[in-house]
Amino acid sequence: MEINTIKNYLIKHIKEKKELSTVDNEFVLKFLEKIIKKNNLVLEEFEKYTTLKQLEKSKKYKLLVSQCRSELRKVYGVFITQSTNNIEQKIKKINSYTDDLIDEILGLHQSSKERQSHYSQIYLDLFELLFSIGLEKNYSLLDLACGYNPFSYKYFLVKPKYYFASDLSTEDMKQINIFFEKTKINGFAKECDLLNEIEFDNLLNIVFEKIKKLNVCFLLKTIDSLESVSRHSSKKILTKINADFFVVSFPKKTLGGKKTISENKRSWFEKFIQKTFSEYRTYEIENEFFYIIKK
Ligand SMILES: C[S@@+](CC[C@H](N)C(=O)[O-])C[C@H]1O[C@@H](n2cnc3c(N)ncnc32)[C@H](O)[C@@H]1O
Repeated sequence: MEINTIKNYLIKHIKEKKELSTVDNEFVLKFLEKIIKKNNLVLEEFEKYTTLKQLEKSKKYKLLVSQCRSELRKVYGVFITQSTNNIEQKIKKINSYTDDLIDEILGLHQSSKERQSHYSQIYLDLFELLFSIGLEKNYSLLDLACGYNPFSYKYFLVKPKYYFASDLSTEDMKQINIFFEKTKINGFAKECDLLNEIEFDNLLNIVFEKIKKLNVCFLLKTIDSLESVSRHSSKKILTKINADFFVVSFPKKTLGGKKTISENKRSWFEKFIQKTFSEYRTYEIENEFFYIIKK
């Protein structure tokens, strides 16, 4: 069997789990390559199999599939609480961003689900803080690693003049663009792996072509995930973005809410923002701790 056939089959097989079905193939491949290396394997070992059935039965093949799925779940799949077919069907029925169906969509992603009953208050408090340290009312927003947060548009008391959103999956971004178009929100969503420098530079070029000046950048509940794959990456990402303000948040509890995450875990981040940015405020709710940062 040819290497490309093996690679494609592995990717297809890994994505058969519904929570991983919308991850881009290139992203799966990146993880796959890392896991192949970690296990001291080479794909050429699988060339000896003549049929896909034989390949699937091999212990090493099974190990690759399960380890890759487990790593992907940590950064992407674990947050999606239901099949994306569900969201597509709901979006088709939406005509306004105030539609009740929006709340059902917010409930399909773990992070927006956790904020669901507090969204109005969170935005009210966050923007009061942002305005108090100089954010203009006519602001543009970049929501990085956005998850389903763009669906919370109705809860912004002062709406952004432009909402740029980005996350890993092309399919998720397609759905957010359909939502923006149907509800006439001035916005755009584009897929991007923040840890891929070329993709990230390309994203920033597109952002600045569209909005010229970026006022606020959200990076909500994502830093831990980025750091688990590549240490110090979030510092690089934040220093590269030319935004007037950042809102960065961290979970206060582990997924499922069972354990509390110690504040010490974010002390490195506090030191970094003290050193790098001019001022910051903090804000917290039951499950989430926010830093409101002025460049
Ligand atoms: C805990 S969720 C937070 C989602 C959203 N920011 C929110 O708070 O509602 C983490 C998000 O980070 C995204 N993510 C993880 N690694 C990423 C990467 N390398 N590039 C872009 N997004 C990433 C995941 O797809 C997921 O949507």
